[in-house]
Amino acid sequence: MDETGDYELDHIMLTRGAISERISELAASISGEYGGGELIFTGVLKGAVIFMSDLVRSLDRSVDARMDFIAVSSYGNASASSGAVKMIKDMDTCIEGKNVILVEDIMDTGLTLSYLKDTLTARGPETLRTCVLLEKPDRKKVDSILDYRGFTIPDEFVVGYGLDYAGKWRNLPDIWCVTKR
Ligand code: IMP
Repeated sequence: MDETGDYELDHIMLTRGAISERISELAASISGEYGGGELIFTGVLKGAVIFMSDLVRSLDRSVDARMDFIAVSSYGNASASSGAVKMIKDMDTCIEGKNVILVEDIMDTGLTLSYLKDTLTARGPETLRTCVLLEKPDRKKVDSILDYRGFTIPDEFVVGYGLDYAGKWRNLPDIWCVTKR
């Protein structure tokens, strides 16, 4: 997408109802696999905040869920991938020997998730799984690294439910496609 363009909301791709239903299913799978044990949810700021907060609240009470966050810089304020990923905020929790789920809003090329997965794997967790709300398979540049996926979507730029364009629209409860004004 052109960085200098002016974009507006076009139409809803995923409604809040569809998102909520899918999150309940993901939470049920995760609860089934990790019930009774400690599980560290590691969200990638800022996009995953809303997804992760709904996901952890949908888990079964038997999951001992912990929350932590990391931040990376890759796209800056634009929406075109530079391919370069850098961690700009690390998590506080020591994950050695722990069960971890890395939570991201969207996987586009997969470079961000792949970099984070490698970085966290090097710290020796017992298990490390990945969970993304949206996957755009058309632009994928990495091998399959997803364990939990909410929706597969076409290669369109989307905002809302935590996802932004230049910092805007994260607060929308539905997921929208944007278009050039
Ligand atoms: P990847 O490294 O190419 O997989 O990019 C992942 C990151 O790009 C996400 O965490 C988002 O910040 C951003 N991104 C990719 N596609 C979209 C989109 O359609 N809307 C909003 N952000 C996006």
